[in-house]
Amino acid sequence: MCGITGYIGHREAYPIVINGLKRLEYRGYDSAGVMMFDGEKMHLSKTKGKVSDLEEITNKETSRKQGSIGIGHTRWATHGVPNDVNSHPHFSESGDLVIVHNGIIENYDTIKKELISRGYTFQSDTDTEVLVNLIEEVKKQEGCKLGKAVQLALTQVIGAYAIAVFDKTKPNEIIVARLGSPIAIGVGKDLGEFFVASDASPFIEYTKDAIYLEDEEMAIIKLGKEVKVRKIMDDSLVDANIQELQLSLEQIEKGGYDHFMLKEIHEQPKAIIDTYRGRMLADEGIIKMAGVDDNLEKFLNADRIIIVACGTSWHAGLVGEYLFEDMARIPVEVEYASEFRYRNPIITPKDVVISISQSGETADTLAAIKLAKSKGAFVFGVCNVVGSSIARETHAGAYTHAGPEIGVASTKAFTTQITVLSLIALKLAKAKGTLSNSAFHMYLQKMQLIPDKVKKLLQIDDHVKEIASVYKDAKNCLYLGRGFNFPVALEGALKLKEISYIHAEGYPAAEMKHGPIALIDENMPVFVIATNKGHYEKVVSNIQEIKSRNGKIIAIVTEGDVTVKEIADHVIEIPDTEEALTPLLTTIPLQLLSYHIAVMLDKNVDQPRNLAKSVTVE
Ligand code: F6R
Repeated sequence: MCGITGYIGHREAYPIVINGLKRLEYRGYDSAGVMMFDGEKMHLSKTKGKVSDLEEITNKETSRKQGSIGIGHTRWATHGVPNDVNSHPHFSESGDLVIVHNGIIENYDTIKKELISRGYTFQSDTDTEVLVNLIEEVKKQEGCKLGKAVQLALTQVIGAYAIAVFDKTKPNEIIVARLGSPIAIGVGKDLGEFFVASDASPFIEYTKDAIYLEDEEMAIIKLGKEVKVRKIMDDSLVDANIQELQLSLEQIEKGGYDHFMLKEIHEQPKAIIDTYRGRMLADEGIIKMAGVDDNLEKFLNADRIIIVACGTSWHAGLVGEYLFEDMARIPVEVEYASEFRYRNPIITPKDVVISISQSGETADTLAAIKLAKSKGAFVFGVCNVVGSSIARETHAGAYTHAGPEIGVASTKAFTTQITVLSLIALKLAKAKGTLSNSAFHMYLQKMQLIPDKVKKLLQIDDHVKEIASVYKDAKNCLYLGRGFNFPVALEGALKLKEISYIHAEGYPAAEMKHGPIALIDENMPVFVIATNKGHYEKVVSNIQEIKSRNGKIIAIVTEGDVTVKEIADHVIEIPDTEEALTPLLTTIPLQLLSYHIAVMLDKNVDQPRNLAKSVTVE
């Protein structure tokens, strides 16, 4: 996690670096820092807190903002508590080198002891300060240039990193390197300037040309020269592949909404269309997905599908399990990537592994993919971020095309992941003949109506807000759902927890009587998804059980529902659709509800405490 920015060129570096940090704050926001080089001196400013806290410091002295070279960092703490000293950038012992780092150096302790025995002292508790001193020591021992020293030092390191290093004695270059954490270089061709960042958002208004380093690559970025990319381990030169960015500035701004999360909730009708556009040709009765088409036999002959993911993406995976098994009759297992990677799972070349990730950078998911590949499985990625590590590591895949998701709580990524999974399930069902032609066509027609139904649901925002105001002070909440909507109950609870800090649990509705029912009293709001399809009567019975224990019932029902309306304290109506597609609708009011509760409780909706958008550490 953590965000890195940097600039070397002829412009004022400070605004580029600081605004870049604001765009990267989703990656971590417990401390922030910048180093500006004014041609002679390095000026370091860093603090616990957010980029806005850092700005209060830099605003006090103009020298802190001067220069046309700078690097910056926004942190999600791993080694060392979030405080001023542990904030990045970090200087080396001599004060010549400065570094920003995203990742974890696992063998930092051994290296630190060795450096201490050589007379190095340490100000912070971070692994990063160890790395910059290791680079300095290598440079001294080998009498080499900075680039070589970085390379040799990194060969001694175990762990993950994206780094940017600057040497004030050689002030025309920045060295960057990556292993397991992303780094992009913006190439300002005309002016010979360069931008460095964890993703391209910090430099999108300056250049559309970017180089993404691969794992175990480093780049020497010299003012006015071509970028040189090398393999860290064998020193071979690599072609610096300059890609054209598709990202636009509007996509990464709030566009009049109070929060990114609200903007992203409202973007869902368009995001879902963007996800199926060009793939689902409803009138022709075709689903075209190159990644699936090219590997159709692998899917059709698979003994089973294993879905690996974390968090919200794992919830989407659970919806996928219901979809694949119900429509395509392929056995599915859904695994937390973090468990899967370490429990010596049985994987064979007859398995198809689907990895789901919004960011495409989640360390556990990436490790699960590598493990599955090493056992011969075919790995298919469902990612949102184009060109991300997971997108590159998988054999084939399908992008969700949700556009940048900046709010830390995932919203449109979830519904677009479900959209992609629905398309794959339908496609496989058609190819296997497990779904009749008429059912297949019916699904395509119904899927086409989903974006308008989501739009309609977004209009009931005031009603959801009213309900939010009634339950905002609850200490605990339960979320219940069955079948396709059991994962939605989990997701609803996660959304509430992460942005309002209210304790919430999701359960399959029928599991309630095996334990959670003990919690129900007049203070317990229970959000129940009770749409008219599937197990409606059974969910109604579950609602009765809550009612008879005085629990408060907030039910999500299908338009026109009569039965639940009579029992529940509040109802939220969703438009009718096929049961398999209901998660795309039932999710929306739960997202809005969490959003409004968090706003009413004055929580930081877009940057909830302790979280980060992209979890590149395990
Ligand atoms: C919750 C949330 C997280 C992510 C999880 C996986 O709102 O965003 O639970 O879903 O960290 O992230 P990705 O999908 O980027 O792999």
